Amino acid sequence: MRIDIVTIFPEFFDVLDISLLGKARANGLIELGVHNLRDFTHDRHHTVDDTPAGGGAGMVMKPEPWGEALDAVLENGADDPIIIFPSPAGVPFDQKMARELAHEQQIVFGCGRYEGIDQRVFDHYADRGRVRLVSLGDYVLNGGEVAVMAMIEAVGRLIPGVVGNPESLVEESHEDGLLEYPSYTKPAVWREREVPPVLRSGDHGAIARWRHEQQIERTRRVRPDLLPPEL
Ligand code: ADE
Repeated sequence: MRIDIVTIFPEFFDVLDISLLGKARANGLIELGVHNLRDFTHDRHHTVDDTPAGGGAGMVMKPEPWGEALDAVLENGADDPIIIFPSPAGVPFDQKMARELAHEQQIVFGCGRYEGIDQRVFDHYADRGRVRLVSLGDYVLNGGEVAVMAMIEAVGRLIPGVVGNPESLVEESHEDGLLEYPSYTKPAVWREREVPPVLRSGDHGAIARWRHEQQIERTRRVRPDLLPPEL
């Protein structure tokens, strides 16, 4: 998969050199391009924002640098890329979207700052391809960079070969619609707290049933909105 990011803070993404995603890049599973929006300005101050039309607080990102940056990224990219702008006004990001995005050939992320990007940028690229405004959750970040990091991590680990043992992806929170069961390891007793005896019983059927009950109980307690109606 090819991932391109347009941002005024390219150094935010230096951490993509490390950990699982760093390895995926080294192995050629993920190809990453980070582009500085200011490189697509032509004034001495590399201006990327201006006052909002109609008045009001804050600044809005100008369309011209975005147009040049996205044209450059798209020119060298896949046939049908998806362009994602993180925004608190977008559709919620979830595991289902992460799974779908893991099949893309190219994802372009546009990181807005300030009060957002001139609406005409979204409208222009929506006419040329697939554009999505995507929200990480119902809260406001200072810009899209942290949201893009989260999305890249969620999507990247679903690309075949990135996570060493694909079975570890199956029994996670949100994969079967429920939250994951609690995990334990050795020692059997730690600070007077015991690993539940069923997990040490060797009875795989009983273990599977216990884990499923734990998933349901936890989901009912923490995220009743996720619980399927039959439960
Ligand atoms: N940018 C600012 N807030 C955001 C959010 N909640 N999700 C995605 N991008 C954002």
